[in-house]
Amino acid sequence: MKATHEISAASKLGLRTVAILFLLFAAGISGCGRRLAQERFERPEDVRNFDELFAHNCSGCHGAAGRLGPAPPLNDPLFLAIIPEAELTRVVSQGRTATLMPPFAREQGGPLTAEQIAILVRGIRSKWSNAEAAGPGPLPDYLASSSATATTSLENKEIALQVFGSSCSTCHGSHGQGGKEAGALRDPALLSLLSEQALRRIVITGRPDLGMPDFRRLGAMLPAGQPLTNQQISDVVALVSSWRHPHEPAAPLHKSSGGQ
Ligand code: HEC
Ligand code: HEC
Repeated sequence: MKATHEISAASKLGLRTVAILFLLFAAGISGCGRRLAQERFERPEDVRNFDELFAHNCSGCHGAAGRLGPAPPLNDPLFLAIIPEAELTRVVSQGRTATLMPPFAREQGGPLTAEQIAILVRGIRSKWSNAEAAGPGPLPDYLASSSATATTSLENKEIALQVFGSSCSTCHGSHGQGGKEAGALRDPALLSLLSEQALRRIVITGRPDLGMPDFRRLGAMLPAGQPLTNQQISDVVALVSSWRHPHEPAAPLHKSSGGQ
């Protein structure tokens, strides 16, 4: 009797020890898990690191290092020399209507705080600006609306055709149909992805990453041999923009001097 009693007391003690150890162990695991989760989880609005913010929000479209993505490069000294800081902040906060560029500010339904947008804007400028690489001389206006001579309608078709014939057709084809050096511009699908402002920016900065020259070298292809002016840029952008509508007839643009 006594022996069995002792055995059962011992086994009860054993069971209790196992149970207590188990509880301590379980509590340890969950406590540990809680600590790890606390360490690992940073609330999205607390991220203040430029690289992390850019990688999560921008690089999918603008490319990992701000270039060679499907959207226009941000890592471009000429682009950063012409875009006013207020405009950079505005585009990131509000996005661009009718394009794939979404608004990022919370007030616009986006994911980022004003502080995070400021970190992105500062980072883009300090990391990728380079006054020397942007080149000397006066620079064209980033926004068409800030140049007094700007037109968004095709008022100066003759000038536009002349600029296109000298500066664009060698690569993009005499009708904008595409050539050996570059793709078609008379392509509603391509143009549906680019606002008038994006076209203007591309004519000013070119796409050095893809082999398209900037406004200086494009202007040098005209008889006067001068960098493209604000007016010439506005006119050629209005011409290319008029091709958004597929019904526009593909009549010859200009007595093309060479090219396709
Ligand atoms: C879903 C794709 C997408 C994402 C994500 C995106 N962008 Fe854009 N972004 C675009 C497109 C497309 C344009 C060109 C819009 C147009 O046609 O004007 C653009 C234009 C811009 C411009 C103006 C560039 C120019 O050529 O004038 C800036 C500045 C810019 N984006 C910054 C950012 C930043 C900073 C982020 C991240 C916080 C970001 N974008 C995220 C697609 C995107
Ligand atoms: C020396 C050749 C060359 C000249 C001249 C040239 N381009 Fe381009 N352009 C390119 C290349 C290369 C690309 C890259 C994509 C492609 O192959 O179409 C390009 C791309 C573009 C794009 C699309 C950019 C994008 O992000 O998708 C536009 C718009 C454009 N060019 C407009 C023009 C206009 C307008 C002119 C004249 C003012 C012009 N180009 C002159 C070579 C040229």
